[in-house]
Amino acid sequence: MGEALKGLKRTMMCGEPRESHVGQKITVMGWAQRKRNLGGLVFIDLRDRTGLLQVVFGEAINKEAFEKSDLVKPEFCIAVTGELVMREAANDHLPTGKVELKGAEIKILSESETPPIYIKENLDAAENVRLKYRYLDLRRPDMQKILMIRHKTTKIVRDFLDENGFLEMETPMLTKSTPEGARDYLVPSRNFPGKFYALPQSPQIFKQLLMVSGYDRYFQIVKCFRDEDLRANRQPEFTQIDCEMSFVEEDDIIAINERLIQRIFKEVKGVDVSLPIRRMPYSEAMDKYGSDKPDLRFGMEIKNISEAVADTEFAVFKGALENGGSVRCVVAENCASMGRKQVDKLGEFVKTYKAKGLAWIAYKSEEEIKSPIAKFFSEEQLKSLIEAAGAKVGDLILIVADKDEVVLQSLGALRLELAKQLEILKDNNNYEFVWITDFPLFEYDEEENRYVAKHHPFTSPKDEDLELLETAPEKARAKAYDIVLNGEELGGGSIRIHDSETQERMFKALGFTQESAWERFGFLLQAFKYGPPPHGGIAYGLDRLVMFLAGTDNIKDVIAFPKNQNAYCPMSEAPNVVDLKQLNELGIAIKEDQKEE
Ligand code: AMO
Ligand code: AMP
Repeated sequence: MGEALKGLKRTMMCGEPRESHVGQKITVMGWAQRKRNLGGLVFIDLRDRTGLLQVVFGEAINKEAFEKSDLVKPEFCIAVTGELVMREAANDHLPTGKVELKGAEIKILSESETPPIYIKENLDAAENVRLKYRYLDLRRPDMQKILMIRHKTTKIVRDFLDENGFLEMETPMLTKSTPEGARDYLVPSRNFPGKFYALPQSPQIFKQLLMVSGYDRYFQIVKCFRDEDLRANRQPEFTQIDCEMSFVEEDDIIAINERLIQRIFKEVKGVDVSLPIRRMPYSEAMDKYGSDKPDLRFGMEIKNISEAVADTEFAVFKGALENGGSVRCVVAENCASMGRKQVDKLGEFVKTYKAKGLAWIAYKSEEEIKSPIAKFFSEEQLKSLIEAAGAKVGDLILIVADKDEVVLQSLGALRLELAKQLEILKDNNNYEFVWITDFPLFEYDEEENRYVAKHHPFTSPKDEDLELLETAPEKARAKAYDIVLNGEELGGGSIRIHDSETQERMFKALGFTQESAWERFGFLLQAFKYGPPPHGGIAYGLDRLVMFLAGTDNIKDVIAFPKNQNAYCPMSEAPNVVDLKQLNELGIAIKEDQKEE
């Protein structure tokens, strides 16, 4: 049974009262965190999203309120009115810890069953229970803190973009397949049985159309939908900060976005990001870090030792070089005496990245060099290998030979794994931003046996690489850029193609026929016949950005109502079966073998 407010007004939030308010009569409302009955006195810790306040009831304060307060149990929703007084024994752990409220009146606004999860910080309850009772999970102070950071971040973004002439505009959710290339979420149509809308993977085409329409600068904080395999930093529906600008080139977009990033990190975290943010071409990132999202908080760069081992008789190295591959390494500093078991484990680790093995050289001292492959090298060859690797006495050299792609990927991953194992990043609170630029325009899709766009098919080639579209597409670079922070891709964008001739050459290189290109993107191609301005843009993953700002490595922590690893919502139980009537209206039948019992 719950009491009505009947005109009672809250005058303060629970986290607000301080010594300066002592003597005031206040009314607070919230949830009972816990209650203690110490004989003549009842203490309740009252909680709302701003914090905790101790409330005390006693016969001497008000008999009726005292008796009622003893009925309160955890998570009851109550309102208390009384005088704020100094607390006898201050609690230094609470911002309100110097004061307490003498409860003269109490209303029990609603009762609560015993909650299935504790409402406290750093809860370790099973994730599916937390998600099933998400509304209770969200009562936890650490979750509330994160969602308030999220609010603050979007507010800063809106203010900044508004100050810089961007208009916030919406684009359709019921639309057509967009060009990001993940699997679509489809929505069946009742008006057109057998036809489907696709939920947008991004507003890409619509924001480009808004540039054609002359809106000049657009942004939107927008839900995007991608039916992908989920990971710690991926959700099926996630939020982008999506921008597009007209009459600009790469540098213009990068410049304004750096200022946005600087503002967000300053205002949310008090962190100074110095500008300009460094830039690194894709080729250098791959070469040194084996990744297009390098973690620059530590060195341990990949070194190419192909030349130093060119004369070797070691079949594995020789074979890799003869097949156009390479031999490269990373150096684990001061790890020459790493145990055999641990080194073997690293060998297993690189195998998950398709490396066939991991050779190692323990440079124990000038005189003692231990390695399973030492027998294939003269002393001189070993010395020049060590020099090419840049290793010092005490270091461990870890080597992979294969085609470049495998070598770089496995060593890039090994570098990160070593940083974890060796705790290189422990207590590292740095924010190492980098723009990765000059991405390849295409990548080869082994499954489809053709080139696909690395970013999307509207991304402009570099002016100087236009000719390569027909002659050597694999060498063509794009006017594309990603913003990377501590090894995570925060966002990415590009300058778009704005003339139809280049767009057609692009489609041709991608293996689209004129018909198939028009069928998919005809409305954009048609629009481009009417004076499209040069334009480009970027989209950030808002969820990933907030993960950094809130210091969590789980994307679910920054989303009020996320899906679990199977794209399922344990709370609402979506997705769900629907009535036969609904299916009939949509002209849909479920295959016998796919029906759920
Ligand atoms: P892109 O596909 O790179 O670009 O997406 C932009 C950013 O969105 C975030 N992101 C995700 N976050 C959480 N869960 C996911 N499943 C997920 N997928 C992507 C990433 C990524 O950097 N239209 C282009 C942008 C443009 O060209 O302007 C686009 O969508 O942080
Ligand atoms: P083997 O002669 O096959 O026993 O290999 C000798 C050493 O070379 C072992 O330490 C293997 O892990 C390592 N090795 C095998 N294949 C590769 C490779 N492709 N790249 C680097 N090291 C390798």
